[in-house]
Amino acid sequence: MRHFLDLRDFDRDRLNAMLETAAQMKAGEVSSMPLAGKSIGMIFEKPSTRTRVSFEVGIRQLGGTPVMLAAQDLQLGRGETVADTARVLSRYLDGVMIRALSHDTVAEFAAEGSIPVINGLTNLSHPCQIMADLQTIQAHLGALEHQIVAWFGDGNNVANSWIEAAALFGFELRIAGPEAYRPPAHLVAWARAEGANISFVDKAEIAAKDATVLVTDVWISMGDDEGNRLQDMAPFQVTETLMSLAAPDAIFMHCLPALRGQEVTAEVIDGVQSVVFDEAENRLHAQKAIMAHIFDDNF
Ligand code: CP
Ligand code: NVA
Repeated sequence: MRHFLDLRDFDRDRLNAMLETAAQMKAGEVSSMPLAGKSIGMIFEKPSTRTRVSFEVGIRQLGGTPVMLAAQDLQLGRGETVADTARVLSRYLDGVMIRALSHDTVAEFAAEGSIPVINGLTNLSHPCQIMADLQTIQAHLGALEHQIVAWFGDGNNVANSWIEAAALFGFELRIAGPEAYRPPAHLVAWARAEGANISFVDKAEIAAKDATVLVTDVWISMGDDEGNRLQDMAPFQVTETLMSLAAPDAIFMHCLPALRGQEVTAEVIDGVQSVVFDEAENRLHAQKAIMAHIFDDNF
């Protein structure tokens, strides 16, 4: 059984092979239909624009049939267990993509079901997003190991997957944000033990200096309480001043949805260095590559 739950479940060679397939998918060089005759469920416990549409379109483009399952429409919403849901859906479906409130739900589904499970975002990680982001960096800047990626703001699910990618691909990762919102210490310890070059700074300008990729995300993720987040994160807004400190050909990235005026100014996200719409498009290609590698041994 091949699941796609987190980047660290794979080695660099396998992820590189997926990224290569993603670039070939984007270039229109893949004509096989690895999902022909297969039905892939999509369970959403939280809202989504990109993940929902890119998976549905991607499954169809690979010859499969997407089955959309909003969690509130399933018996899951009325107390049926994740384990029973996983066992039952495994009798109908060939695979499932899950966007869950809790990472444990995705892990339990994978453990109790008998079909491949793809993580479409949890409270802890967003590996499909980072695969699309890595594809975007390769297309715009080249080799991953030469990059300096600077993350600004919340140490959230997306930041966690960046940490895993830094350990796997060898680029430098600088995280600038308030100390109280840092990613889990055990994840950082794992990444450093793998040789990752990860630093934490409390001044945005230090992280931005000579960086090749500047990336941020919303300050209040789905499921978070607002608390003091807006005030606490304010010094880490990505501005044109911050961009001017970065490498001359640096790119700005954001997984979207974005809130202009909070984590990033309109001038930056709508400016010439922003690649956010390529990044969003690459969700489609990267996820098709992930599914091809899961479901077809020829990849
Ligand atoms: N970036 C991302 O996952 O977007 P959605 O929440 O719209 O799926
Ligand atoms: N960190 C954000 C990402 C949304 C795609 C959230 O979890 O809401």
